Amino acid sequence: MEATQNIETLDVTIIEPRLKHPTIFEMFDRLQGGAAFIIHNDHDPKPLYYQLLGERGSTFKWEYLAQGPEVWEVKITKLIQADGETIGELVASDFRKAQVFKKYGIDFCCGGKKTVAQACEEKGVDKEALENELNTTSTTTTANARETDYANWQPSFLADYIVNMHHTYVREAIPALYEYTTKIASVHGKSHPELLEVARHFVNVANELEAHMPKEERVLFPYIKQLDEAKKQGILLDEPAFGTIQNPINMMEMEHEQAGKELEAIREKTNNYTLPPDACATYTVAFKKLQEFEEDLHRHIHLENNILFPKALELEKETLKSN
Ligand SMILES: [Fe+2]
Ligand SMILES: [Fe+2]
Repeated sequence: MEATQNIETLDVTIIEPRLKHPTIFEMFDRLQGGAAFIIHNDHDPKPLYYQLLGERGSTFKWEYLAQGPEVWEVKITKLIQADGETIGELVASDFRKAQVFKKYGIDFCCGGKKTVAQACEEKGVDKEALENELNTTSTTTTANARETDYANWQPSFLADYIVNMHHTYVREAIPALYEYTTKIASVHGKSHPELLEVARHFVNVANELEAHMPKEERVLFPYIKQLDEAKKQGILLDEPAFGTIQNPINMMEMEHEQAGKELEAIREKTNNYTLPPDACATYTVAFKKLQEFEEDLHRHIHLENNILFPKALELEKETLKSN
């Protein structure tokens, strides 16, 4: 490898055949957004172009610098994804990015419609530092770190998954968390008055979710499954009683935002779940479980707002008679 105008050139002709593509992929994955490298070859590397497009999507620019007959050179630039894509789209394509947004206090589920630039500006976050971290997550594609590819699941399957995994979790977690938050508020409320607020916010979010989930289970999700089935069978459906699916989706998104706000308030009151020195075992468990609850809710809302609902809107366009 040699440096050409600060851009590394990889001489593919001297790499063992079975290692050619893995080496190029490794190099591409190591690139920061906006950076480039050049591959030098003795034939047109077109198959590589298709492999890269298939496995990394439209995340790169492919420019021929030399097109044979003996020397072929291509400059491959990794595009900066964060500028145009919304946070929700970024997390939908790679859930590991959620951790980065979380670290910077950026909401990726309810606030998922914003771009990275907008969210950074609002929160006063250093965009460059955040983008560097986002790019680093895409380079750590070890088997363990590989995330479930929710975006490719059938909408019906995803709806069932959400109910079985997340709605079940919420229903199981609420009674214990209600008990813990009430208990620590009554035992430690005098010295830590914020715990009274925590208990109040928790009751709010629990009540909201208990009213919210049945609407998805009885109305919205069954309709999404109906749309999915209609598409499979190639039949067109009549307009539903609620007009367009956008209406219940808007309502669900508003409710998600409200639930997210309650949990954000808890995080704020507890100073990011910082335990005081006099915290007892229940205090510690309550904070740990609340954080787990928040994490689960973020993933749950992300799957709905950023993956399931956009897919449902697409399905409706394809299967409604009035369209
Ligand atoms: Fe849900
Ligand atoms: Fe929901």
